[in-house]
Amino acid sequence: MSLVTLKELLKKADKKDVAVGAFSVGNMEMVLGAIRAAEALDTPIILQIAEVRLPTSPLNVIGPMMIAAAENSSVDICVHFDHGLNYETVLQALELGFSSVMLDGSLLSYEDNIALTKRVVEAAKEYGASVEAELGVVGGNEGNGKAHKIQCTDPTLADDFCKKTGIDALAVAIGNAHGNYPVAPELRLDVLNEIDKCCETPLVLHGGTGITPETFRECIRNGVRKINIATASFDAVAKAAKQNTSVDKPNYFDLSQSMADAVYENVKKHIKIFNMESL
Ligand code: 13P
Repeated sequence: MSLVTLKELLKKADKKDVAVGAFSVGNMEMVLGAIRAAEALDTPIILQIAEVRLPTSPLNVIGPMMIAAAENSSVDICVHFDHGLNYETVLQALELGFSSVMLDGSLLSYEDNIALTKRVVEAAKEYGASVEAELGVVGGNEGNGKAHKIQCTDPTLADDFCKKTGIDALAVAIGNAHGNYPVAPELRLDVLNEIDKCCETPLVLHGGTGITPETFRECIRNGVRKINIATASFDAVAKAAKQNTSVDKPNYFDLSQSMADAVYENVKKHIKIFNMESL
């Protein structure tokens, strides 16, 4: 199996009416735990890292590791650059060999979001990579402290946006937010359904941590083909680290194993919810 593009994976997911899990990583243990879960269930996944994570996980260090892990896996893996905020960083990810990139122009005006996304789509073509973009604003924050107010995607613009940019996947804002929700959110499935009806491009749900299995399945029934999970994995790693260092003699190797195991369990749980075993 191999490194595959987002477009290829989402096409397969669409045929089977399932979603592919996109799991954020920040170190080697997270990469290995996620891939082990995918291999245990014999199903593809997306491994991703967001631009806001780069201060602690530099792209030129973690990127090649993610790609090498994908290339050596027994299942198909897409290596995706999540929430690219600058054209230059997105280009760096493409240059490193990422098979998919996201340009997040959600805080720009509609016209500027289209223009910047189009530029990224043109660049990605040269590398044979896929592109995801966002319309509307997903709430919360990706860890940089700046919380964004949710702004639902306008269903009447979704198809126009996808056609004008030529993207392969559209991230929607339907009441979802990054980080831990105070209570499980009630997503605007009516808005999702409207978007799905008028737009052929596969849809992406961000802010997966804390959404109930039933809501995930409702989203999948309404065209969501990629679901992002980050906080749940980062929290699981932190919890494992705490447990392993609160002992008399902390052991690095046990710590490393426990972090990978924590991600393995979290990724496996989500793959099962997303019906991906059928892929
Ligand atoms: P969570 O951190 O809420 O799981 O969101 C992940 C995400 O959407 C990454 O882009």
